Amino acid sequence: MSRPVLAVVIGTTRPGRVGPKFAAWFRSRAIDHCGFDVELIDLATLKLPFLDEPGYPRLHQYVHEHTINWSRIVERCDAFVFVTPEYNFGYSAALKNAIDYLSQEWADKPVGFLSYGGVAAGTRAVQQLKQVVTALKMVPVAESVNIPFFSQFIDDSGTVRPNDAMTRAADAMLDELARVAALVRPVAISVSEPVVPIG
Ligand SMILES: Cc1cc2nc3c(=O)[nH]c(=O)nc-3n(C[C@H](O)[C@H](O)[C@H](O)COP(=O)(O)O)c2cc1C
Repeated sequence: MSRPVLAVVIGTTRPGRVGPKFAAWFRSRAIDHCGFDVELIDLATLKLPFLDEPGYPRLHQYVHEHTINWSRIVERCDAFVFVTPEYNFGYSAALKNAIDYLSQEWADKPVGFLSYGGVAAGTRAVQQLKQVVTALKMVPVAESVNIPFFSQFIDDSGTVRPNDAMTRAADAMLDELARVAALVRPVAISVSEPVVPIG
């Protein structure tokens, strides 16, 4: 079997955001891990409008090109890391919108979280995300990377300078994502399988 594809998803879109910095660091850590083919997904580049599909996502009857494109991207990925800060004790609207667009594409796939913020290190956003991803039958892993007072880990050039705890946490999360991906990949449902509409 080929190596699983891990998507590192930048969960914020605002100009000047720091999400891409932590995503770049984690992506390079994931490449060094050697357990995955790694893709970086930037919601700012994807530019999904607010959900504008008339049909329920679970029916997979998309009418918009941007949805079909997003569906193909998520379908080909076997595991995810959502890179998220806290916005008012929650996660970003852009990330919720991107999640809500699709349904079966997410199912049976492990997901980990890299969060950053102030004293709570983005963990309140992660708790909310866990609730949402389980509705989509994703498999959240317990291991996580939670970065408090994040600016201390970004140098003047904008590069992330991790401490040992961050590096160990990233590697532990990658190990767990690889373990769970190996377990669930054989049973993951392909979206190309027919879906029976409700009612
Ligand atoms: C709308 C908004 C709400 C925020 N709320 C929180 C918060 O509840 N907790 C926190 O630790 N940081 C909060 N922050 C600070 C963010 O942690 C910090 O700005 C971070 O850089 C946001 O991620 P981003 O740069 O990728 O957008 C907030 C920032 C914004 C823009």
